[in-house]
Amino acid sequence: MALPAFLTQLGELLDSAVESFKKAAHVEDLEKSRIEFLGAKQGQLKTVQKQMGGVDKEDRPEAGKKLNEVKQAINAAFEAAKERLLGGGDTTTAEAFDVTLPGETLTLGHVHPITQTIEEIKDIMGRLGFSVAEGPEIEDEWHNFEALNIPLEHPARDPLDNFYLAAANVAASDKTKSQNALLLRSQTSTVQIRVMEKTPPPVRIVSLGRVYRPDEVDATHYPMFHQIEGLLIDTQVTLADLKSVLRLFASSYLGEDVHIRFRPSFFPFTEPSVEVDMNWQGGWLEMGGAGMVDPNVLSAVGYDPEEVTGFAFGLGIERLCMRRHGINDIRELYKNDVRFLAQF
Ligand code: PHE
Repeated sequence: MALPAFLTQLGELLDSAVESFKKAAHVEDLEKSRIEFLGAKQGQLKTVQKQMGGVDKEDRPEAGKKLNEVKQAINAAFEAAKERLLGGGDTTTAEAFDVTLPGETLTLGHVHPITQTIEEIKDIMGRLGFSVAEGPEIEDEWHNFEALNIPLEHPARDPLDNFYLAAANVAASDKTKSQNALLLRSQTSTVQIRVMEKTPPPVRIVSLGRVYRPDEVDATHYPMFHQIEGLLIDTQVTLADLKSVLRLFASSYLGEDVHIRFRPSFFPFTEPSVEVDMNWQGGWLEMGGAGMVDPNVLSAVGYDPEEVTGFAFGLGIERLCMRRHGINDIRELYKNDVRFLAQF
C-alpha cells in the first residue's frame, strides 16, 4: 500500500472519531464510540494499524509516526468528551454528583421595613395588654369626623384636606348638611369609634394601618402613611396612665435612651389633648397626638361618660421606623429601590 493512501485513511479515521466523541450526549453513547474507535479487538484504530504491514518498507517509519499522532489525538478527543460528560469523574456512573460542593444560595426577599415595624409594634403593645383591631380604609363621615366630635363646619373636613370619593363636591357646596360622603380615612381614630360601637367597656386595643392626606410630599410627609391608634377605656383611667404607656412603648421600640415630651394641644375628640415628640438628631420630631377621650365621643358610641374614662393616641409609624433605622427621608420607604430595601 502506498503511503498517501494510508495517510488518507488515518485522516478519515481521526475525523470520524473526533466527530463521534463530540456528539456523544451520554456516557452510554461515549462508551459505544470508544468501543467503535479504540476497541482493543475490532476497533477502527486497530484495523488501520494492521494495514501498516502493507505499507512500503521505506515509508513505514513515516507511517508509524503519523499513526501515533492520530492515536494520541483520538485519545485526547475521548478524554475531552469524558471530562465534558462526567467532569472527570468515574465513567461507570452516569449521575456522578459531588456532595461536598457548596450548595447554591437562594436570594430571599425581605419583609418591607414598614411591615416589620408594624409587626414589632403589635408585639410590644400585645405585651402591654392591647389587642389588635382593624377598620376599613374607605370610611364614612360619621366614623372619620362626626362621632369623633368634629362638627360639619370644622376645617378638618375641608375637601382640600381630605381624599373624598365621588360625593365630595356636593359636600363642599353645602357645608350645613352632611352628605354622608365616603373618603379615604385621614386618621385611624375611626377605629376607636368602630370598636366602641360594638364592644362594651373595658376596651384596650391598638389599630395599625394606612391613612391618607393630600399633603405636599417632603422628607417627613407623604400622602399615604401609617398610624398606630391606641385606645384604653376603663374606670378611673388618667393622663398619667397615658404617659406611662407611651413612655414604655417608646423605650421598648426605640431604646432606653429615647426622650419623649408632651406638649399641650387640641383635638376635637380628646380633652385634654397633647402632642407627643421624640428627640432626634439634636431636635424634636413629632410622633403623634394623644389625650383623654372626650365625653362627647363616649356618648356618641353609647358609653356613659360618668362611668368610664379613657385615653387615646395616634402615632406615625413611618416616623418611628425612620428614627429607629436612621432613615432621613420618608420617600425612601416608597421608592421600592431594592438596594435600599435589602438593608432591612
Ligand atoms: N388622630 C389624630 C391625628 O391623626 C391623632 C390622635 C389620636 C390624637 C388619638 C388624639 C387621640 O392627628
